[in-house]
Amino acid sequence: MTKSKVFSHVFDEETLRNVNKLQGDGYISNLLGPIGTGKESYVFYSRDFHDKLVAVKIHRHNIDAFKSIPAYIRLRGRKSGGFLKQINDWTRFEYNFLSKAHNLGINTPEPIRCYENIIVMQFIGSDDNPSKLAVKDRDFDAEKWYGLIIKFIVDMAKNGMIHGDLSPYNILNYNGEPFIIDFSQALKLSSSTINFLIRDITNINNWFLSLKYKSTKEAKEIIEEIGWKDEN
Ligand SMILES: Nc1ncnc2c1ncn2[C@@H]1O[C@H](COP(=O)(O)OP(=O)(O)OP(=O)(O)O)[C@@H](O)[C@H]1O
Ligand SMILES: [Mg+2]
Repeated sequence: MTKSKVFSHVFDEETLRNVNKLQGDGYISNLLGPIGTGKESYVFYSRDFHDKLVAVKIHRHNIDAFKSIPAYIRLRGRKSGGFLKQINDWTRFEYNFLSKAHNLGINTPEPIRCYENIIVMQFIGSDDNPSKLAVKDRDFDAEKWYGLIIKFIVDMAKNGMIHGDLSPYNILNYNGEPFIIDFSQALKLSSSTINFLIRDITNINNWFLSLKYKSTKEAKEIIEEIGWKDEN
């Protein structure tokens, strides 16, 4: 089967049209990879008009992807449009959170373009080898990484945001530096979402404790550092 036939088997017509549009506009060329496949998305790499490598995350238009949409987005979408629109809205949310985190100076892929169910962003890797997930490449300085990842959580929260799915499965080891990816579960910080912030901190603490790093900070201490108070 030719590569274009494979794509047309995997993707619905709408997605193929969206890929074509981004190709026509010069943001991407042929899709290579994939470098990541999940229930909700495929991540490919490609080259832009200037031959620079980019990563291309395509949210699938299927029921598994739909189920993964955070409830707060799904509920809101009920009023405004069907299934595809909700997946596209969700992609836009992810892109907006990625952009805000990137603008705070956090190590994330640089956002380049969001179109319907597709995000084009900086490719994190060297030549055409994508960086490995932190869970697979443990060649890093635990003390430095713990400090940076907690600083990331604190900076996001001070700006009203929670990553929502923070773990070594969503952190790339790019030449010894942690790069945070996958803002698809991100949410705004409030009294009803603070548990997600605590869950992110707990996941990170448990991971570092499993690496024998002993100086983790209590979630309570980190939340004090953020200065967040329950107004209710
Ligand atoms: N900008 C990038 N540069 C290099 N590799 C990337 C980039 N973005 C994503 N990847 C790769 O693609 C994989 C999937 O990306 P991501 O976590 O955003 O999607 P996902 O659908 O949430 O996947 P999962 O369900 O596995 O978490 C990542 O684990 C990573 O290996
Ligand atoms: Mg992920």
